[in-house]
Amino acid sequence: MNKPTPAQLLAPYIGLSLHHLYEASVQNVDADVDFIEDVYEELRGGEPGSLREDFCGTAALCAEWIKRDPTRVAYGVDLDEPTLEWGRKHRIGLLGDHGSQVVLSQEDVRTAKSPTVDVQVAFNFSYFIFTERAALRDYFSSVHASLNQGGLFLMDLFGGVESEQELLEKTRYPAQVDPDGTEVPEFTYHWDQHRLNAIDRSLRCFIHFKIKGGPKIKKAFRYDWRLWMLPELRELLAQAGFSASHVYAEGWDDDADEPDGDFKRKKRLDNEGGYVSYLVAER
Ligand SMILES: C[S@@+](CC[C@H](N)C(=O)[O-])C[C@H]1O[C@@H](n2cnc3c(N)ncnc32)[C@H](O)[C@@H]1O
Repeated sequence: MNKPTPAQLLAPYIGLSLHHLYEASVQNVDADVDFIEDVYEELRGGEPGSLREDFCGTAALCAEWIKRDPTRVAYGVDLDEPTLEWGRKHRIGLLGDHGSQVVLSQEDVRTAKSPTVDVQVAFNFSYFIFTERAALRDYFSSVHASLNQGGLFLMDLFGGVESEQELLEKTRYPAQVDPDGTEVPEFTYHWDQHRLNAIDRSLRCFIHFKIKGGPKIKKAFRYDWRLWMLPELRELLAQAGFSASHVYAEGWDDDADEPDGDFKRKKRLDNEGGYVSYLVAER
């Protein structure tokens, strides 16, 4: 007998899809847009108006961008049409008339044509799919060309000792109601990080979900990445024409014994444990 698909496993939960579980556990578009606004103010002064979200998936970030300020515009680019379609219905659709300020295109991020923008982002490590230097440099060159003069390119990355080890990290999320009204039951998110190949730094990861009192959805998402390191990324950004790049690392909350959510520009970053940082490149 064939293994049940994620859609079959989720069928008893009305309207629930993997996208709801992914967004509730992986994405924090509110914090991402806060960071974009803060860093633009710091480096450029004023507010950015136009955004391009590469690897946008459901375009949750585009939706948050417009929700904050309906005079803005956003462009989302992703290869996967069914995911874009879900985003149009469940995220952009919630913006009402302002939904027309978001344009989603099914294209490769390296060749997508959109008007030039103030800010372009590649979040949740999506550019790690480019495993060769030449491919990543081509992507960075295409970002450089699609930014306005003085535009900023923001990406995130993870690193540190833990990023190079096998890891299964489980995080519980309480029951919640999605912005589209869907009831999301309590579930646990499993980040399953396999062994890193030191020769080419290839890394395979999976996301699994376990619904409380319900099914486990194994390998809901799979990633075959290269675990890029900061100096390589910064060198490739410079080769692609960016005039400067900066690392923004999170501070530490001693009382809570966890990262404090406050990202500051840093010249030194300890490689202890694991970290997630933003890398910001200036056109
Ligand atoms: C990890 S998801 C990112 C979803 C969301 N934007 C986030 O930040 O969590 C990666 C997305 O990249 C898309 N993708 C992969 N390669 C691509 C390419 N070359 N051009 C455009 N999209 C691509 C996939 O279809 C997938 O939706």
